[in-house]
Amino acid sequence: MKLFNLVRLGNIDIKNRVVMSPMTRNRATGNIPNKLMAEYYSQRSGAGLIITEGTSPSPDGLGYPRIPGIFSYEQIKGWQLVTEAVHNNSGKIFIQLMHTGRIGNSLNLPAEAEIIAPSEVVANGNIYTDSKGEQPYGKPRNMTRDDISNVLNEYVQAAKNSILAGFDGVEIHAANGYLINQFLDPASNIRTDEFGGDNAARNRFALDVTAAVADAIGKGRVGVRISPYGVFNDMSGNYEGIAEQYSTLAANLGKLEIAYIHLVDHSAMGAPKPEPATVELICSEFKKSGGGAVILSGGYDRDQAESDLQSGRADLIAFGRPFIANPDLVKRMLDNSALNPVDMSTFYTSEATGYTDYPTYIP
Ligand SMILES: Cc1cc2nc3c(=O)[nH]c(=O)nc-3n(C[C@H](O)[C@H](O)[C@H](O)COP(=O)(O)O)c2cc1C
Repeated sequence: MKLFNLVRLGNIDIKNRVVMSPMTRNRATGNIPNKLMAEYYSQRSGAGLIITEGTSPSPDGLGYPRIPGIFSYEQIKGWQLVTEAVHNNSGKIFIQLMHTGRIGNSLNLPAEAEIIAPSEVVANGNIYTDSKGEQPYGKPRNMTRDDISNVLNEYVQAAKNSILAGFDGVEIHAANGYLINQFLDPASNIRTDEFGGDNAARNRFALDVTAAVADAIGKGRVGVRISPYGVFNDMSGNYEGIAEQYSTLAANLGKLEIAYIHLVDHSAMGAPKPEPATVELICSEFKKSGGGAVILSGGYDRDQAESDLQSGRADLIAFGRPFIANPDLVKRMLDNSALNPVDMSTFYTSEATGYTDYPTYIP
């Protein structure tokens, strides 16, 4: 099967086309990666590529409790435990850079940090805090031009820190309603300067960050995750001009010759299905203009994955929840054996239970 073939991705060879999706698990007490996390990722290093949980490039991007960062010395040292453990098992690992922007609450942020976003538009909904349970999203301060340059520099520094920490590359999180997606979406971005207004202006921040990160660590070490039509974290879903906006974004990302584009489809989790024709257009524009691989994600099993690889829709397939519950997912798929069911109640707790204790197929 194509799913289990060795393949080149950007600058690296990966042992199969199975990607572990980025998944926030909230085990990074004090926002610092630890031994428990190293064990979790090492257990899953049968994946051709692991993409880590969303990791903040800035104190301001730590909107959720116990999510890791990659801006301090302690965080770099913590991540080294993870990358060493994965590399020792001949795995490859990218870090997902996620700045939460307006998706946060000051109770989750370090004392000196603040909630910032393209515009002062509060997200609808609540967010969990360790000290006071569910709380409404905080009010963001709209970013000045200086803030935009600062955050761009934070992404660049975070990418350099990631290489120091031993990562094989970085995935820029431009999906699921976090900071970069907040710039892309016309409801959360009502700016009237060169970062807001028309499609090109709303795409600018995503492209500037990607270009700067690619310049800093090499284009073959960079991927970008996007979620057109997504509604998670109070994004708009469908809106006028979305197909043009995302196909232009994909074409411009392709021109940067980055390693991959990674598309989210959360319809298996109850979200609207991304328009198939637009998804196809995004992928073809990305490749046509010089981009690398296409990763598709969301609701895959082994047979659907193989079918989308065979048809050429995708070059790699990412699996999320199946990897939470099955540390040896690749082996199980190879043998076509049964999968453990996933326990949602332990997704975001702070314990080893539901994290590193899922049974392997052959103990
Ligand atoms: C517990 C959990 C945490 C997640 N955290 C992230 C994240 O940090 N970054 C991200 O891009 N997607 C995140 N996602 C979305 C997954 O990457 C993936 O797109 C989604 O689970 C659908 O794939 P699946 O059907 O294979 O699970 C998360 C999903 C779950 C279940």
